[in-house]
Amino acid sequence: MKQIEKTLENLIGQSLNAALAEGSLTKHTNDCSCQISVLPSTKPEFGDFQINSALSLAKVFRKSPREIAELIINQLNKIESFKNICKPAEIAGPGFINLTLNESCLISGIFQRLNDSNLCVPKVEVNLKEHQKKPIVVDFSSPNIAKEMHVGHLRSTIIGDSIARVLEFRGYKVLRLNHVGDWGTQFGMLITHLKEVAPQALKESNAIELGDLVTFYREAKIKFDEDKNFQKASRDEVVKLQNGNVDSLKAWSLLCNQSRKEFQIIYDRLNINLIERGESFYNKFLKGVINELDECALLKKDNGAQCVFLNEVKGWKSTSPPVIVQKSDGGFNYATTDLAAIKYRLSAVPEGDGAERLIYVTDSGQASHFESVFEIGKLANWVTNKNQCKHVPFGLVLGADGKKLKTRSGHTVRLKDLLDESVERAKADLISRLSSEKREENEEFINKVSKVIGIASVKYADLSQNRTTNYQFNFDRMLNLQGNTAPYLLYAFVRIAGIQRKGGNINHAINSLKFTTQQEWNLIRHLLKFDDIIIEVEEELLPNRLCNYLFELSQIFNRFYDKIPILKANVIEKSSRLALCKLTADTLQLGLSLLGIETLQRM
Ligand code: ARG
Repeated sequence: MKQIEKTLENLIGQSLNAALAEGSLTKHTNDCSCQISVLPSTKPEFGDFQINSALSLAKVFRKSPREIAELIINQLNKIESFKNICKPAEIAGPGFINLTLNESCLISGIFQRLNDSNLCVPKVEVNLKEHQKKPIVVDFSSPNIAKEMHVGHLRSTIIGDSIARVLEFRGYKVLRLNHVGDWGTQFGMLITHLKEVAPQALKESNAIELGDLVTFYREAKIKFDEDKNFQKASRDEVVKLQNGNVDSLKAWSLLCNQSRKEFQIIYDRLNINLIERGESFYNKFLKGVINELDECALLKKDNGAQCVFLNEVKGWKSTSPPVIVQKSDGGFNYATTDLAAIKYRLSAVPEGDGAERLIYVTDSGQASHFESVFEIGKLANWVTNKNQCKHVPFGLVLGADGKKLKTRSGHTVRLKDLLDESVERAKADLISRLSSEKREENEEFINKVSKVIGIASVKYADLSQNRTTNYQFNFDRMLNLQGNTAPYLLYAFVRIAGIQRKGGNINHAINSLKFTTQQEWNLIRHLLKFDDIIIEVEEELLPNRLCNYLFELSQIFNRFYDKIPILKANVIEKSSRLALCKLTADTLQLGLSLLGIETLQRM
């Protein structure tokens, strides 16, 4: 409805000007833009749009808001193109204007969407060729090598993927970067430990599994914390690695490969596309970063470490700790790598990615890290006012006890186990549903459906929460056929596929539509809002807005489906209702695909 909103805003501007020209309104102050905004109405009884501007215009024109609203309406109701869109405008309360779209306008909106695979969501950068587009970097997932990918990474993966899909759909070029933790002190510990207990793992690939690697990592960490000699050996090992020792590099790359393979299994199951560009990629830039910071006079030595004191430079609250960019032993930090990454991503091709916007999807615990890093990026002039760097934070995943999700033994939950369990449970549910409905289905159907539902449920449960809050992981709730869940939405889609199987050809071309019931108009109005929602998700980077929209769409569709005959209706009503079914199915499918969720024909 964005297009209509704009048109209406113009028409109101026209009416205001006409009233001014006629002399029925006079401006008493010049410092006003007389900006009039048309907003979607907050309640159905206020029509489709409301205009609240008469209240703020009262001062400018020294008339009561109601008088101003009346003058605007008088003009508006005279304009031919307005009459094509709306029923006569009405005044409400102290001076609000309510606008209600007329039936022909609503119907033409439905026609447009039936004939447009983008469902009338406008594209940005339409006139640019692919190579002219400046990419948006979405940095997401980003697990750490030799550590198991945990639910925090699952959230980042699911949310980041959805944000990337929405941006891509809008026409942006998106660089999906996996900033894998593939460098740093963990390798010193791990290599030292493996040399003692499993030397073959450092020489040949596939000698150990990621599960083992994680166990080795835990053991190494315990030793590191307890044993001074082990600490020393580990640190020496890091130095060897950083200096490019051939054996150390070989061991490192074997470990990375092993992790990479396991991560890929998860990405394949979740259907996630990512370009791996780990922390190690930026090694060669770290020294240069320090030099540039020094040139900008941002560095200060503190206990042998090179630091940026943002509290001094920027007058930030004095408790904010300094950002250490080089440790006293010469080593670099997580923040140093992120600074190098910002510079690289924003630098023009071929020195960098030539990106304009950077989006980072991590847990909210990293908010102050990103705040500092972005600020330093600005001070060093890598980030200019053309750029936008944004941290997209999310909350924790909690278990049934309301605490951070853990296994019974207190370890982090393995993603693989979590996805397996969801699919298993979806399968058990399906089998019991089949038996109660006395339906027979083959093995292939059962496996396919439970896989889609199991994965969709995990994704949707995550995406449907406002990402900034913590959410409680609960299989029973997320797999339920009722409520704001993936199965509920998938089922609405399946119902429409069912209508088609029962003989309702929802794909045939149609040239006239006729609607008669409230249920139909409710569905139409909701269908026409899809573009508004996509733009909102893009602006706020909140996929839960799209989830809510699709949930409401499914509810409104189900009410229509339950109350209104479709296949048994007369010819013209039937084909009009089938057209609504088709548009609902298309909207659900496109919306779900932007959440990274596949649909089913039957379930
Ligand atoms: N590897 C980090 C972690 O597991 C996330 C990295 C996020 N991206 C970044 N550019 N810092 O917490």
